[in-house]
Amino acid sequence: MTSQNQSEICVSKEGEKMSKGEKREAVNIVESKEWYLADYAPQGVPTSDHLKLRSVPLSLALDSIPQAHVAIQLLFISIDPYLRTRMSGHDDGLYFPQFLLNQVITAFGIGRVIRSKDDKYNEGDIVLNAFFPVAEYCVVPSDVLIRKIDPAAGVPLPEYLSCLGVPGFAAWLGIQVLGDPKPGSNVFISAAAGGVGMFAGQLAKLKGCKVIGSTGSDDKVRLLMEEFGYDDAFNYNKETDLDAALSKYFPNGIDIYLENVGGKMLEAVLNHVNLHARIPVCGMISQYNQTWTEREGVRNLLNVVGKEVRMEGYLVASYLDRFADFAKEMESYIKQGKIRSKLKIKRNNNKECLSANLTLHEAKYVDPLSRAGFRAKCECIESRIKSSPNDNKAKARKSESLEPQNLRLMVLALTRIYTLLLLPLLLLLLLLIVAFHS
Ligand SMILES: NC(=O)c1ccc[n+]([C@@H]2O[C@H](COP(=O)([O-])OP(=O)(O)OC[C@H]3O[C@@H](n4cnc5c(N)ncnc54)[C@H](OP(=O)(O)O)[C@@H]3O)[C@@H](O)[C@H]2O)c1
Repeated sequence: MTSQNQSEICVSKEGEKMSKGEKREAVNIVESKEWYLADYAPQGVPTSDHLKLRSVPLSLALDSIPQAHVAIQLLFISIDPYLRTRMSGHDDGLYFPQFLLNQVITAFGIGRVIRSKDDKYNEGDIVLNAFFPVAEYCVVPSDVLIRKIDPAAGVPLPEYLSCLGVPGFAAWLGIQVLGDPKPGSNVFISAAAGGVGMFAGQLAKLKGCKVIGSTGSDDKVRLLMEEFGYDDAFNYNKETDLDAALSKYFPNGIDIYLENVGGKMLEAVLNHVNLHARIPVCGMISQYNQTWTEREGVRNLLNVVGKEVRMEGYLVASYLDRFADFAKEMESYIKQGKIRSKLKIKRNNNKECLSANLTLHEAKYVDPLSRAGFRAKCECIESRIKSSPNDNKAKARKSESLEPQNLRLMVLALTRIYTLLLLPLLLLLLLLIVAFHS
């Protein structure tokens, strides 16, 4: 890149994108906001005590950028549940390396090249990286970039983090590579309305399977059936007996279970698997906020032996050699309108990039690492608000126990009113009968 190009960088001193016609100014030092890990959160939902925002000065001067590096302005990041497991301070479960304390965290993201010291990348290129620093600006080695996005492809940018990103790839691997779907296979998908589940169900339908999903609200049940073509779906928060629910929805058993939640759901599924069923284990989100001694056990794992089930954990990072096949297939499905996607993009006009509308301060009571929380350049892929299943059960128990009690009180009150009204009437009747006879 020449020094002439340098003067064309269109960021203001505050790092905002500038519209055409506005005075452009070359900026060499920016105050870049970034999220860093201040403390590990071994249990529970991480809060603003753990994740914090700070501003750091960053030089974008060309001579300060090393060879084979690019300066990036971050556009979107994907807040995937695995990020939670990188903040616990202990290596288990997904075995992703822990984020280092006081260091900026990283996430799968999309950025715009604003300066380049690599001939393969030009200013303005839109690029993907699995581990972008979650910061407004960063300088990264160009060999970590996964691909350039072709704007002419006509695919909206956030889709490269959704159906063409980690969730879509995880769904494709789980269903098509490990699930081995056949026309007529009975497929069950948990967390079905999540980033992975919505594509997994549609991919299984394209293979001619019967697909049923579980999710946490009636609205999401409707979404699955009306928008994502699921044959059926149920709200697991309303099912008091998951085993009975699966008997109802799968009278002929389950051939493929795409495991996203773990715990009680997995236990229930294992009572309904058919011979040679496949269980691609994509994740177990219900267990991420607990240390391993607190996690739920699965008592009927023995069924895996008798039903000769193939249960296999997988990570997208281990299948990067299949990413091109996946992207080609998925892009073609999108263009043909065979796969639908639903994204909530949180936009914020606040100039406080990253500490936008939905900061972790506000998001700490939600599952901050399920598509939630923070966003670069004031846009964010919004999360699903999620209380823990125990909270839901407590709520369910509360309403169960209150309703009959209220009913009893009402019956008692009515009986008393009745008695009070009836007694004088009876007396009156008695007096009338006596008077009539005399
Ligand atoms: N193996 C891999 O490489 C890979 C890659 C991507 C994702 N994953 C895994 O795939 C799973 C889904 O990821 P995603 O991207 O679809 O996540 P997502 O879009 O963030 O959605 C997660 C959904 O999980 C459900 N959920 C949250 N807490 C739960 C709990 N305690 N019990 C039951 N359900 C709960 C919620 O939906 P409801 O309202 O329906 O409960 C939530 O919306 C996760 O386990 C994730 O770790 C794995």
